[in-house]
Amino acid sequence: MTNKIWLMEGLSSQRDLIQGIRAFANLKQTDVTVIASHRNERHEILSQADIALTEPQDADDRLAFILATVKKLGVKAIHTGRHATWFEAHRAAITASGVTLTTGSLQPAMFELADDKVEYAHAMEKAGLPVVPSLRVESVDELRALIARSPFASKSLCVKPVKGIYGMGFWRFDENVSPMAHFINPDSRKVNARFYLSALEQAGKFEPLVLMPYLPGPEYSVDMLVEDGAVLAAVGRRKEGSVQYLENHGEAFELAKACARLMKADGLVNVQTRNTTSGKPLLLEINMRPSGGIGYTRLSGVNLPGLFAFRQLGLMSQQDVLDEAERAFTPAVVRPLTEAVNYPTALTNRYREENDHE
Ligand SMILES: Nc1ncnc2c1ncn2[C@@H]1O[C@H](COP(=O)(O)OP(=O)(O)O)[C@@H](O)[C@H]1O
Ligand SMILES: [Mg+2]
Repeated sequence: MTNKIWLMEGLSSQRDLIQGIRAFANLKQTDVTVIASHRNERHEILSQADIALTEPQDADDRLAFILATVKKLGVKAIHTGRHATWFEAHRAAITASGVTLTTGSLQPAMFELADDKVEYAHAMEKAGLPVVPSLRVESVDELRALIARSPFASKSLCVKPVKGIYGMGFWRFDENVSPMAHFINPDSRKVNARFYLSALEQAGKFEPLVLMPYLPGPEYSVDMLVEDGAVLAAVGRRKEGSVQYLENHGEAFELAKACARLMKADGLVNVQTRNTTSGKPLLLEINMRPSGGIGYTRLSGVNLPGLFAFRQLGLMSQQDVLDEAERAFTPAVVRPLTEAVNYPTALTNRYREENDHE
């Protein structure tokens, strides 16, 4: 019997998924083959798999490529970290051969909801989940007026793009910082609103923004293994300065799980929250995919990518995963570092037609 799982193009976390799955298979002394593919030459990711493939550049060629690869290699499970909407639109054609498919949710409407931070906030509010108060801003004049009348209980305001990623475009308004503050220390994410408004005006082009009260934190980032809304395993990271505390209980942790349930998440997903001044967690966002920090969660003893793979390959039951997540967890304090790895200029594991991978 062959246990072959295929991780298609994702963000940088694709590498952590491959490594997590291989480590878990080793630990469980189970033969698992990890196939990885990407459109680009991401050797630092692809080199980690047993078999590497290059994905077609053109979306029109994707379905034929998937079907041919599943057949040739005998793939049992596919995970994608990108193009989730495309994959869901082609679910029936992809899974007809018997392969499982994980995109983040079986309901494509949920991708749109997760993608629009204001729509998302409104949906959470409607469902009774505490979420950061979020106002959609459509123009510079609107932003100027809102800042002037301070629409929230808190005077401290911040903005981010309605459709953003990697924290890009998040700025906190502070009247007390120097006009140079954001140039000298961009990482502090503080800007005097006058200069922000002036730059926005002169840019001419306006991308919709979310205006929110600034939440002091701490921030939580919770990675989860979910099956059509049922959370099987989760590891929370409480971020305090440069260190992160791995946890599996508490109000933020429970709120994150409730959000994943409500959003009908399916696969490895991530929910972020931040605490108010009074210590109450509010939802910030859900990512219907593994977070960039999913690799850190393994330091708790719970291997989310491994558990995911074993579920998809039919090697563990839902109850097995629930038990393992409970048993394996140990609280840990971790510190993320940027590390360098040897970059393989050539791949030795690239799939070739004539190879026999059985
Ligand atoms: N209302 C807020 N108060 C304080 N910090 C915030 C707030 N909203 C966002 N942030 C900060 O900005 C970061 C990015 O916001 P997030 O909603 O996660 O968007 P994305 O990660 O998609 O860019 C968060 O991790 C958090 O540190
Ligand atoms: Mg985020």
